[in-house]
Amino acid sequence: MFEGNSAKIRINEVATRDGLQNESVFVETDDKVALVDKLSGLGYAKIEVTSFTSPTAIPALKDAEAVMHRIRREPGVVYTALIPNVRGGERALECRVDEFNLVMSASETHNLANLRMTRPQSLRQLGDVVAQARSANVPVNISLSCVFGCPMEGEVPQDNVLELVGKFADLGATGVTLCDTTGMAYPTQVYRICDSVAKAFPGINITGHFHNTRGMGLVNTVAAVQAGITQFDMSLGGIGGCPYAPGASGNVSTEDVVHMLQCMGYDTGVSVPGLIEAAHLLAELVGHELPAQVSRAGERLTRHSPPAGFNEIRERALARDITTK
Ligand code: COA
Ligand code: ZN
Repeated sequence: MFEGNSAKIRINEVATRDGLQNESVFVETDDKVALVDKLSGLGYAKIEVTSFTSPTAIPALKDAEAVMHRIRREPGVVYTALIPNVRGGERALECRVDEFNLVMSASETHNLANLRMTRPQSLRQLGDVVAQARSANVPVNISLSCVFGCPMEGEVPQDNVLELVGKFADLGATGVTLCDTTGMAYPTQVYRICDSVAKAFPGINITGHFHNTRGMGLVNTVAAVQAGITQFDMSLGGIGGCPYAPGASGNVSTEDVVHMLQCMGYDTGVSVPGLIEAAHLLAELVGHELPAQVSRAGERLTRHSPPAGFNEIRERALARDITTK
């Protein structure tokens, strides 16, 4: 049903934020800048460079200002950053981010664990952050965590999600990212929730954000595409995860998603060989093998040599035809 589809899918890279925040090694500032600069040439719509969070909460990204100031800005790419509160907004404005990506959770327990605020407290803080952004003409996206389930509360009612999206739409946010923080989403649920949010808020740009914790990241992406979503967060190499969400693991990997979408005929604008090369650099920086599949297996039509002794195998097989004639 998807064959020959030429729709454009916008790809957002989150490895330098969602990815690095969950790594045990600190990637040096120079290396982060070099990685972002490499990613900038690959055709992404957006790169989430870092987060302006507390350095105690997320030590891996404590160099947010330095990274943001030093990266090369490729025209046409949106350089965004995650912001939890007014202090984060001030830091982000000083660094001239192209977009504020606000964060709060659809689950009360995860919001408290991750941001140390109740949801009403987050809403009040983020209302002020939206005002900060709007006075500087910076667009605002809201990333809602645990939309498809919470590792501490279980199911998260869809009505809570719709209510929160409505509150941010009223504040003036132009986009919402529906985050599956710990890979609890499944395809029929993804279709239902994406479809409901899209129908209720036709003026809001919706982004899908899936983690591959239970191996459903790719199929959830397809379900979201079926529901009409055309923008996705993903992480090079499949690294990532929220340190304050128990059991979190990597995002669905950029090379796997882009490769799949290209096979299906979608135009992502992103080069798979470029991603594979960048994934090898990332593996060196974090010091371990990455969970992504395509950077190990290569693209679908990657061809391998036949096994050793193949000519003899063929000759023996052909000789059988002659002797049986
Ligand atoms: N950037 C830098 N420092 C910040 C900050 C920000 N955005 N927000 C608060 N701080 C500092 C304060 O200045 C204060 O510093 P001090 O002790 O030197 O005075 C300290 O952090 C505590 O401030 P407080 O407002 O009490 O924050 P908190 O300890 O309640 O933490 C958050 C709240 C939101 C800042 C913190 O939980 C956080 O950054 N969470 C992000 C989690 C995350 O990114 N998770 C993964 C993404 S889903
Ligand atoms: Zn995430």
